[in-house]
Amino acid sequence: MGNPIKRFGVSLDRDLLDNFDVFCRKAGYASRSEAIRDLIRDRLINEQCHDEETEAVGILGLVYSHDTPDLTETLTRIQHENIHIILSSSHIHLSRHNCLEVILLKGECGTLRSVAEQLISIRNVKHGKLVLTSTGKDL
Ligand code: NI
Repeated sequence: MGNPIKRFGVSLDRDLLDNFDVFCRKAGYASRSEAIRDLIRDRLINEQCHDEETEAVGILGLVYSHDTPDLTETLTRIQHENIHIILSSSHIHLSRHNCLEVILLKGECGTLRSVAEQLISIRNVKHGKLVLTSTGKDL
C-alpha cells in the first residue's frame, strides 16, 4: 500500500503567495501542491547531500579550451584515477576553441565533491559546476 497523503495548511502573506502562483504558472505546475512537493524534495535532497557519506549521483559540467597544452590529458588522467566513481563522460565541441565535458558520477557526496573540485580547479578550466542528486528513496 502506498504512503498515505496528509493535508496541512500554510499561512503566507498575499505578496508571497501571488509570487508563488506566478512561479507555478511559469513552471507549468498543475497545482500548488505539486510545486510545494518538488520544492520540499529539492531542499531535503540538498540537505542529504551535505552529509559526506550520503550516496548520490553527480552531474559535472566542465567548459575549457582545448588549445591549452596538456589540459585534456590532465582531465582524462584524473578521471582514470577515479574510475570507481565515474559512470560516463561525454565530450562536446562547443566552438572552434571551447569544449564541454559532462561527467556522470556515483558515490559518496564527499568523494564526488572532492573529485569535482579537483577537476574544476585545474588551470584553464573556465567554468565547472557539480549538481548532486539522489533517488530520494527515503523521501
Ligand atoms: Ni572538443
